[in-house]
Amino acid sequence: MCGIFGCILKEGTAAPLIHASLKSLEYRGYDSVGIATINKNKIILKKDQGKIDEVHRIINLDDLPGKIGVGHTRWATHGAPLKINAHPHLDCTGQIAVVHNGIIENFSELKLELENLGHRFVSKTDTEVIPHLIEETLKKDSSLSLADAVLETVKALEGSYAIAVISTIEPDKIICARNESPLVLGVSKDGVYCASDIPAFLPVTNKAVLINDGELIVLSSAGYEIKKIRDSSPVSRKPEIIDWTPEMAVKKGYPHFMIKEIHEQPATLRNTLRMQEHYLDLIATFLDRANEVFLVACGTSYHACLAASYMFSKLAFLPTYPVYASEFVEQHGKSVNIDSTILAVSQSGETADTLAAVTCAQQRAATILGLTNVIGSTLTRVSRVYIGQQSGPEIGVAATKTFTSQLSVLAQLALRLSKKRGKISQDEMDALEERLENLPDIVDTIVQKQEKKAKQLAKKYKNSKVFFFLGRGISTATAYEGRLKLMEISYVPSIAFPAGESKHGPISLIEPGFPVVFICPKDGSHRTLISNIMEMKARGASIIAVVEEGDEEIKELSDDYIEVPKGIPEVLSPIPFSVPLQLLAYYMALEKGHNPDTPRNLAKSVTVK
Ligand code: AGP
Repeated sequence: MCGIFGCILKEGTAAPLIHASLKSLEYRGYDSVGIATINKNKIILKKDQGKIDEVHRIINLDDLPGKIGVGHTRWATHGAPLKINAHPHLDCTGQIAVVHNGIIENFSELKLELENLGHRFVSKTDTEVIPHLIEETLKKDSSLSLADAVLETVKALEGSYAIAVISTIEPDKIICARNESPLVLGVSKDGVYCASDIPAFLPVTNKAVLINDGELIVLSSAGYEIKKIRDSSPVSRKPEIIDWTPEMAVKKGYPHFMIKEIHEQPATLRNTLRMQEHYLDLIATFLDRANEVFLVACGTSYHACLAASYMFSKLAFLPTYPVYASEFVEQHGKSVNIDSTILAVSQSGETADTLAAVTCAQQRAATILGLTNVIGSTLTRVSRVYIGQQSGPEIGVAATKTFTSQLSVLAQLALRLSKKRGKISQDEMDALEERLENLPDIVDTIVQKQEKKAKQLAKKYKNSKVFFFLGRGISTATAYEGRLKLMEISYVPSIAFPAGESKHGPISLIEPGFPVVFICPKDGSHRTLISNIMEMKARGASIIAVVEEGDEEIKELSDDYIEVPKGIPEVLSPIPFSVPLQLLAYYMALEKGHNPDTPRNLAKSVTVK
């Protein structure tokens, strides 16, 4: 998730506006920044790694000449956050500059083809194939316009993209195209603009033209032309007036980042399905060869590890030990050794307890593997191999989209390991992969259909003094995560247990009206869970169940329930079943009058300032 911007001004220089617009897009990524403009038929380019203010202080992003230009603020997914990987990227001639937000899945094949044709690549990014492809297309047919060359190029791309292209070949145009990544145009009497998001041009115009997937745009001082990539058929679309304040715009009209990020999960889950095969295989190989595997993390990331321990065991017959990072040194510091493998999970990649556990293990020659959302973070630097989960920046302190993305990546690792070990038939593999592919839509359905219900439940139970969250099997992890979300943003004391544990003590707390949230996927634990529900109900508890559609048995036993689509395999259930719990926590915080984005006493390990 990066931020792209481009503009063609009638008067003045473009760079200062591009700089300011990238600042308002910095919540989308802050690993590196770059601007390219065209002046006197030359491309002038400035870029460097780091946050916009730091880079500006060093190289001055305002002094590039020219009325036309593009800019980019980066969230690294392919290639470390270094200057060489910063956008814009150029072709061999330096006449074509491209900024891109998204993930080109087939970039390695395209890169190989282009290198065999003599193209020289300088970065490790997926994006750099785009300017070279445009160059190659124009080399093959010089009668093509720049727009047609971009059209041919995007037809060869697989994956998600929003791109803006400038070139000295047609120095008065910007060519944009979109597939899955956000892109919107702005129009004013002073110029035309393209951006990943409305905040970028809201200070200069509130006239926006929304762009759909599969559309290509030609921007010029005369305005904008839209056409379908599929058949080049023209699309006419009028600008809409946006009545948002800049602050509202950054949140895309949502009142808080947390609810925005909950709604982003279908897109971020799709991104996790675009992992670089190579790294997934590499980590699966290390896990396969390991003598003992510790899954180490804190907070929500620990809950992802807990769920993963069920996935690795059930799918690949690999026992793994989920450990709270803050306890690792005490618990395993003496026994961890050269035959140990640590899979450290941290969305920020900077959590001190997790890094301390990693350092301890490293000092005893253990193998360190990493799963993180921040490429370039400390965890990526200390890991033997790491994988980036591609969720984009998470601004809300409460982890939501990064949790479901972690689970998706860990499930993919477990599937690969299972295949590597021959523990799963091809049919089973295909069935699970198909369900994994459907998860973004399933989560979208839950958010669309169940948000209102979660809001009602928060209102109904807002005066409850304490909550129980119970689940069995892999849903124990979901229960723990539900508990953490409610506690950390609504400050309501909450307790979570493996449901089977509840009768060994905690049940003594139950009294009439005591809310108990049960996580109830229709898996092997369903039957036993019903008896746990009966035990709680018998003592007057209010049963709130997260159930599969059509689970009439548990719905009948419940005072309230939230439904998720049916047929979700057990090992994937924490992904859809945690979403209603995120929504419940969010609306409970609002009911309590708290700001869900900035819970007291808490902060994100890394924030953009
Ligand atoms: C989760 O909502 C919290 N923000 C917190 O528990 C968080 O998960 C924990 O601090 C770990 O952070 P990390 O994934 O960046 O390491």
